[in-house]
Amino acid sequence: MKWKVPYIDFGRQYKKQETLHLSNFKRIMLSGDFVLRDQVLTFEKNVSKILGVKYVISVNSCTDAILLSLGSLGIKKGSEVISVAHTYVATLSAIQHVGLKPIMADISDDFNINPEEIEKLITKKTRAILPVHLYGHSCQMDKIMKIAKKYKLIVIEDCAQSFGAKFKKKYVGTFGKLGCFSVHPLKSLGAAGDGGFIATNDKSLYEKLIRYRNHGQGRRKNGKYLKSRYDIDFFGFCSRLDNLQAAIVNTKLKILKKNIKKRNSIAKKYNQNLKNLPIILPKLYDIKDYSDVFNSYVIRTQKQFKLFKHLRNKGIEALINWPKPLYKHKGLKLSKKPLKNTEKICNEIISLPIFPEIKDSEMNYIINTIKNFFKLN
Ligand SMILES: Cc1ncc(COP(=O)(O)O)c(C=O)c1O
Repeated sequence: MKWKVPYIDFGRQYKKQETLHLSNFKRIMLSGDFVLRDQVLTFEKNVSKILGVKYVISVNSCTDAILLSLGSLGIKKGSEVISVAHTYVATLSAIQHVGLKPIMADISDDFNINPEEIEKLITKKTRAILPVHLYGHSCQMDKIMKIAKKYKLIVIEDCAQSFGAKFKKKYVGTFGKLGCFSVHPLKSLGAAGDGGFIATNDKSLYEKLIRYRNHGQGRRKNGKYLKSRYDIDFFGFCSRLDNLQAAIVNTKLKILKKNIKKRNSIAKKYNQNLKNLPIILPKLYDIKDYSDVFNSYVIRTQKQFKLFKHLRNKGIEALINWPKPLYKHKGLKLSKKPLKNTEKICNEIISLPIFPEIKDSEMNYIINTIKNFFKLN
């Protein structure tokens, strides 16, 4: 379907930096520098500088970033990890695949884990908390870190949707032991396919993870293996970020700050124009508390499905991310204990198009379509 207003317009995004993308593409294709080459190292350096962390390990997705991170910690099988049910399935599948048990806490009205719910779920088996910074907004990291310290729990952050977001001027992904990020195309820093990375200040975890992502083979420096490339320390995985994808995200990093600013101004315009309607709008926070990246702009309404259908019928590619908590997917066999706020929120949310290249005319169309809907409903 050709949308009047797409959720994201990748073509417009590409056009903004077409010359740079094409010259990188040509250079890489001609040189054959495809796997673990210069752009990958540059990307890791760029990100560690932005986040202010010692080590960044690029991998092929955030799912793998979480999986490898949890795997690197040597947590006893069957131990419990506290996270949420309102997240992409990847968060919980990574926990499950390393032999740990996901325990789901309810969320607050900011869509993120409710710190007040965490303590109630801590048992003798709890080893870690995995907060998810959803939609480009940080969790309440001060409270979460306090609980983690009190109970000696490890914190691993799922920052798939929130690269660039801050809590009290500190970047998400730098509070816990490990921060896991995605550069999937739908993210505020998106490649042209899958990709992700891990941020940490822990040298021994870094040494493990850099091997995990490449079949247990030794570490490279400036493209060269420190030991022989045939020295294998343990069975690892094939989870590398492609050099071409790294080149794309390096190029996009140049305009990330500007793009985040634009996303914030779009959110502000939506908020100004949609107030006084029976909708709960996302809160705009003071920058000293939260810097948001608005990876998604999510409204809440009692008329979720009706408005969602109306928007799509009018050619607006709205989304519902996600319509039900993960424990309601029977096949996942998760604990089905209902989480009140999670369920309420799943029944109310709609994500509206938000991307830095959206035109004023497109935003006005979305705003007027919503206003007209509430005049009639
Ligand atoms: C909250 C969350 N966690 C994890 C992931 C997984 O990221 P990836 O697709 O890079 O594996 C996503 C992707 O959408 C996500 O939204």
